[in-house]
Amino acid sequence: MNPSGGLPWHFRAWRSKALWSPTCGQLAAWLAQLQPKSKQLILLGPSAGWMLPSAWLLRFDYIHAIDLDPLAHRLFARRHGAALKAGGVRWQYQSANALTELPRLLQAYPQACVFFDNVLGQLRFHAPKGQDPQLFAAQHLRQIKRHLQGREWGSVHDLLSGPAQGLAPGQDFPLACEAIAAESRPPAGDTQPDTAWLAAARPHGQWLDHLTDAVFPPSTPLQNMAWAFKPRYWHWLQAGWVGPDLT
Ligand SMILES: C[S@@+](CC[C@H](N)C(=O)[O-])C[C@H]1O[C@@H](n2cnc3c(N)ncnc32)[C@H](O)[C@@H]1O
Repeated sequence: MNPSGGLPWHFRAWRSKALWSPTCGQLAAWLAQLQPKSKQLILLGPSAGWMLPSAWLLRFDYIHAIDLDPLAHRLFARRHGAALKAGGVRWQYQSANALTELPRLLQAYPQACVFFDNVLGQLRFHAPKGQDPQLFAAQHLRQIKRHLQGREWGSVHDLLSGPAQGLAPGQDFPLACEAIAAESRPPAGDTQPDTAWLAAARPHGQWLDHLTDAVFPPSTPLQNMAWAFKPRYWHWLQAGWVGPDLT
C-alpha cells in the first residue's frame, strides 16, 4: 500500500483537474522562469505528472523519472509521452524507491539536475511502522541534502495542510491564488514566509506539518502556492530551486 500515491491519487488527480488548475498554472509559471543549466533531469515522485506541464519537461534532452507506484509509468506516458516524443526528449521511467536509488542515479547521471515533484512532504507518511515520522523525515532529508552537494536541484512540496472553509462566496480562485502568491513572497532579506496569505483559505482546526521547513538552504528564493486539494482541505506548497553552489 502506497500512502501517498497509487490508484486513490490518480483518481483524485483526474477528478480534481478544474479545482487544481490555478495551482498547476502557478507551478507552471514558476517552473517556466527557472533556468536549469543541465539538459538532463532526474525526476523524483512525479506519478503521472498530473501537476507538471509538458512544456517544462521539453527543456531537457533526457529525463529519468522514478516513482514507487507501478501504475505511474503508463499514466505518465499517456499524459506526456506524445509531447516528449515530438520534442525529441528521451526518457525512462523506473518503478522503484527514489530514496534508495538516488545515490546510484546521481552517479549514473553526473551532469543531471534533480527535481522532487511533490514528494518530500510525503516522507512522514512513509515512515515504517513503529518509527517516529519526524525522525524518519529528518534523517532522510539530511541524507538527501548530503547526496545533493554540488548539484543543481529543486523541489515543490507540502509545507502544511489542513481544513479550510475555502474562498468566500464570489471570490475567484485563480485571482485569489495570484493574490496569495504575491502576498506570500517574503520581503527581500526576510527568510520567514509571510503567513498572512493563509487567511484567504480561511483555515480552521489543526493543520498538519509536513516536516519540510528545513528542505532548502536558507538563502534559497522560495515560491509559496495555495493548493485547494479538496474544496475544504487546502495545502500550502513551497517551491525552490537550488544552484550547485548553494547546496
Ligand atoms: C503527492 S503524490 C505527487 C505526484 C506528482 N507530483 C503529481 O503531480 O502527480 C506523491 C508521489 O510520490 C511518490 N513517492 C512517495 N515516496 C516515494 C519514494 N520513496 N520513491 C519514489 N516515489 C515516491 C508516490 O508514489 C506518489 O506518486
